[in-house]
Amino acid sequence: MRMIFLGAPGAGKGTQARIVAEKHGLPQIATGNILRQAVKDGTTLGQEAKSFMDAGGLVPDGVMIGLIHERLQQPDAQKGWILDGFPRTQAQAEALDALLAKVQQDLDLVVDVQVPDAEIVGRLGGRWVCKQCEAPYHSKNNPPKTDKVCDHCGGELYQRADDKPDTVASRLTVYHTNTSPLIGYYQGRGNYRAVDGTQPIETVERALEAILAGVSR
Ligand code: AP5
Repeated sequence: MRMIFLGAPGAGKGTQARIVAEKHGLPQIATGNILRQAVKDGTTLGQEAKSFMDAGGLVPDGVMIGLIHERLQQPDAQKGWILDGFPRTQAQAEALDALLAKVQQDLDLVVDVQVPDAEIVGRLGGRWVCKQCEAPYHSKNNPPKTDKVCDHCGGELYQRADDKPDTVASRLTVYHTNTSPLIGYYQGRGNYRAVDGTQPIETVERALEAILAGVSR
């Protein structure tokens, strides 16, 4: 199974991609997580990406396409994957198509998690993320069992710098300008599915399971 999660910042892509990845034994390839790790490690990629991320903008296509090209060649990605946060531009979508065509593989599913902007701001303002494994929580909607401690790995939870209201506003503008046109790019191919992301996490999870059950392999 090869699938993409589309959706605005804070729509719940990471939350659902993590659940599907665990249930189906697929790698969750979250470009935001990869970039944040690179920034933390001070690698060339991290140095290149940091200023774009801090401003809520997009890291240049060439960098992202190279990153995905390399990541999809790793052994754990040979039987399938979940792309969480890629593609985000038409150039990235076309590069992914070209990559798949070259290795004669199909994209099985494009899931679009839909949440209106007004709800996104509240979600990101209350989000806490694990420093170690990047599991996302929410102070009200999805709190950890122990305050500021990750249920999965015991790591410390923190609030992302780009979840401040001004940066969220920039990220939403970037989403509507660069990424939401991908809905049109994928619609009509037969593998695009929209999901109402305003429902509780478990309801979205069930809706996704129903979609996955119906996808021919
Ligand atoms: P990235 O980390 O990918 O950020 P994003 O797309 O803005 O997505 P988020 O992680 O903010 O949100 P999400 O949809 O995963 O929501 P979550 O599940 O956490 O990218 C960060 C930056 O990296 C970008 O701005 C860019 O600079 C760069 N970048 C990354 N990929 C790139 C690319 N391909 N090209 C160029 N640049 C790139 O949920 C959010 C909150 O809501 C949580 O608190 C959660 O608990 C809660 N929640 C989740 N689901 C529900 C629900 N159903 N009901 C109520 N609350 C919910």
